[in-house]
Amino acid sequence: MPKDTLTITDNRTGKTYEVPIENGCIRTHALRQIKVGDDDFGLMGYDPAFLNTANCRSAITFIDGDKGILEYRGYPIEQLAEKSSFLEVAYLLLNGELPTPKELEKFIHLVTHHTYVHENIKTFMDGFRYDAHPMSMLASTVAALSGFYPDAKHTKDEHHRRIQITRLIAKMPTLAAFSYRHSMGLPYIYPDNDLSYVANFLAMIRRIGTATYKVHPTLERALDLLFILHADHEQNCSTTSVRTVGSSEVDPYSAVSAGIGALYGPLHGGANEAVLRMLREIGHVSKIPDFIKAVKSGEGEKKLMGFGHRVYKSYDPRAKVIKRVADEVFEVTGKNPLLDIAVELERIALQDEYFVKRKLYPNVDFYSGLIYEAMGFPVEMFPVLFAIPRTVGWCAQWEEMVKDPEQKIARPRQIYVGAQRRDYVPMDKRAAK
Ligand code: CMC
Repeated sequence: MPKDTLTITDNRTGKTYEVPIENGCIRTHALRQIKVGDDDFGLMGYDPAFLNTANCRSAITFIDGDKGILEYRGYPIEQLAEKSSFLEVAYLLLNGELPTPKELEKFIHLVTHHTYVHENIKTFMDGFRYDAHPMSMLASTVAALSGFYPDAKHTKDEHHRRIQITRLIAKMPTLAAFSYRHSMGLPYIYPDNDLSYVANFLAMIRRIGTATYKVHPTLERALDLLFILHADHEQNCSTTSVRTVGSSEVDPYSAVSAGIGALYGPLHGGANEAVLRMLREIGHVSKIPDFIKAVKSGEGEKKLMGFGHRVYKSYDPRAKVIKRVADEVFEVTGKNPLLDIAVELERIALQDEYFVKRKLYPNVDFYSGLIYEAMGFPVEMFPVLFAIPRTVGWCAQWEEMVKDPEQKIARPRQIYVGAQRRDYVPMDKRAAK
């Protein structure tokens, strides 16, 4: 009779243990009973970078990396991308269900009316050097918000949690636009509550000398769609950072700021910026074979940026949608000259044994940067454009973590490999190295 258990024999002692299997997992804590003696700490799991460790139960986002499936609360990303709007998706991720028209109207009203930031935030922004990266400005100003909203520390209180979540989602475009304006030496533009979430953000970026800047509807829809695609992606590096920092019961601004820090890295949200730099470095379609050769030989530790994913071992479903949107955007903006290099690079890589064998396919970042550039954003803003929508996922995941009775302060174990106990050596007795 099959049983949902795992039987482990410890060959050091000959003892056998039976460990329950739940949802295809064993609790690694159950290994602690496996000891060679009374003073043994017990068996642990060693899993650097969490390659095979689930850190939580989550009902928010489902990914099947082999089949290229991504679902938010059960809804396929392709359907949401085609039929929904970013704030509707935000509501879904935060609340578990699609909103009714009334619920959506209320949510949009709430978000729209929390877009302003305290005037001192502008002074804070002004403290940065003219060439500060907008991601470092964003991470710092989001962390600073906890100083403006002391009520944010009441993380156990749903009412307080929801206010901070609304503020975070609403203010992120304002802070992002301010960081852009600072780096361009342009005056800050206040939010316009008559505009949609995306149109307001674009207006704060673009308006200059006139209040009548009009966003092209194709570009507004394209950015809204890109925001949908980036809204959540389960336990990635930045979300894990938000959950880990949040597990100390710190306020959500501090936790989300940690997420922005993680997203800044070139292996995560910084990858779309790196893709553009890579395409520029390649410079011409004729140079692609040499570049691929350099990547394969590991020369200069080159990687094909925008390729590969920890979870997707097939085409990233977000990349498929983005490729389609790119054509619509380029019809309005004109084609990004780097597109030809990207398309040819993808074609060659998808036929190359090195990439095929390792299941390396284009990810969400491969084409998104080309769209952002065509829309007039400098590369430094690309990870910022990722951080704005991902704030929704971070908040949903943070709240799920706070409400989960199984969660505690995150505190992994280590395998100590340093020096054994030894006595302090006085300065005059230390041999020169
Ligand atoms: N170019 C060349 N080789 C690669 C690449 C790449 N982009 N990605 C992975 N590999 C190779 C890697 O060298 C290794 O080869 P080998 O087995 O010979 O040592 C093999 O493929 C497995 O790679 P890995 O580093 O063990 O995979 P990982 O799951 O640790 O890394 C990744 C995932 C996304 C960090 C990595 O694929 C990468 O660095 N990609 C480029 C950066 C990028 O596009 N990041 C955006 C990720 S999607 C957006 C997001 O969610 O943040």
